[in-house]
Amino acid sequence: MTKKVFIETYGCQMNVYDSELVKSILTDNKFAITPIEDQADIVMLNTCSVRDNANRKIYNRVHEIKQKKADSLIGILGCMATNFKTDLLDKKGLKIDFIAGPDSYKTLPTLLSSLLKTGEKQYDVTLSEFETYSDISPSRKDGINAWIAIMRGCNNFCTFCVVPYTRGRERSRDPFNIVEEVKQLVKEGYKQVTLLGQNVNSYKSDDYDFTDLVKMVSDVEGIERIRYTSPHPKDYPEKLIKLMTERDNICNQIHMPLQAGNDRILHKMNRTYTKQEFLDLVKQIRSINPKMALSTDIILGFPTETEEEFQDTIDVVKQVEFDSAFIFKYSERPNTRAAMKFPDDVSEETKKDRIIRLNDIQNEISLKKNEALIGSTQEVLIEELKTKKSENEIQGRTDCNRIVILDKNDEKIGDKVFCKIIGASRNVLKGIVR
Ligand code: SAH
Ligand code: SF4
Ligand code: F3S
Repeated sequence: MTKKVFIETYGCQMNVYDSELVKSILTDNKFAITPIEDQADIVMLNTCSVRDNANRKIYNRVHEIKQKKADSLIGILGCMATNFKTDLLDKKGLKIDFIAGPDSYKTLPTLLSSLLKTGEKQYDVTLSEFETYSDISPSRKDGINAWIAIMRGCNNFCTFCVVPYTRGRERSRDPFNIVEEVKQLVKEGYKQVTLLGQNVNSYKSDDYDFTDLVKMVSDVEGIERIRYTSPHPKDYPEKLIKLMTERDNICNQIHMPLQAGNDRILHKMNRTYTKQEFLDLVKQIRSINPKMALSTDIILGFPTETEEEFQDTIDVVKQVEFDSAFIFKYSERPNTRAAMKFPDDVSEETKKDRIIRLNDIQNEISLKKNEALIGSTQEVLIEELKTKKSENEIQGRTDCNRIVILDKNDEKIGDKVFCKIIGASRNVLKGIVR
């Protein structure tokens, strides 16, 4: 009988993309995917290891699944698989039947067959220098945006980060193969693609760099919006800012992680840029394209960070005025260089205090920036025919990635409408169709 698989995804968009790959690999190999957990014979959790609370959530989920249905087979995919390897299978009190890392998904059908045949725990956590899954077409959810992994792995080794260990070395997909995928997506009705990589500016395939790739994607007939995430501030090319400014279908939005604003901390993080270099880059981006929306990631309480050094991060946040920021407390990851060299010596209390203060500052900036848009006209691509709060409202995004809520009329998903902004909170805008 065909076995039914339920997949739950945690972590970043790369994992969302990978779950789509896994679905495609499994359905091509006589497994079925079910959206209903209770109907599944096999439950796969595609996991994240980037911060500590990510692990704990998964352990709780495994217990919960086994409690609900004792004969479910449970597998751990993703970054926890390569981070903890077979320790996961040996962990006392945790009933996990198989694990597969981010480069091992093509072996899943074989792993599952062996597991079903023998009842023995299975694993494959080898990392590859070559696997890009360019021959697999992900089984995507309907919508207007399609994620496309253009590269895998990371070579940057920021000292706090587990990703280079869980996802292995950097490798890029062939640009022509990516363009073919985009053409196919347009045929299927997708309006937007988001190009994904841990550091997209390191994309390199033969003589093609990231700017060349974005240009090739932008040339695809019918693609209305192109976004990408994330670039690293150390090597952001001017020609890419210019290309984004020239082309209507490349969105005026950049997510560029700052991590910290103090030079000593940035150096200890191995980020390889200084506060001034980051500020200069922002200045350069805005002088070429004043409309460019900027968002960022920040880590607080990195080992030895003093109050004075934290003030440098506040200073950058205030000077740049990001449209939005994801702010995290430093979480020590075993075996990273930071964990081995620098004791996690900033107290939880201090981290909490800093995150509250910085969030307050950023929230005020986000609100101010959204309020400044009241009265303006924005082009919105409709993404959902309801909102979290109401069935009578719809929502979409502006080119700069701001969410706009509109009253429901007869718009369809994928329509582009012009609307006047009549209200703003820090996260969303309210508009009326013109
Ligand atoms: N490759 C991406 C980041 C992937 S991880 C990039 O460099 O843009 C996403 C974010 O998680 C990072 O930008 C960082 O802010 C945060 N992060 C990573 N490791 C962390 C850790 N050990 N503790 C707290 N936050 C962390
Ligand atoms: Fe982690 Fe740094 Fe690579 Fe981003 S660039 S995935 S933060 S090591
Ligand atoms: Fe993504 Fe988490 Fe792995 S952020 S790369 S799923 S550690």
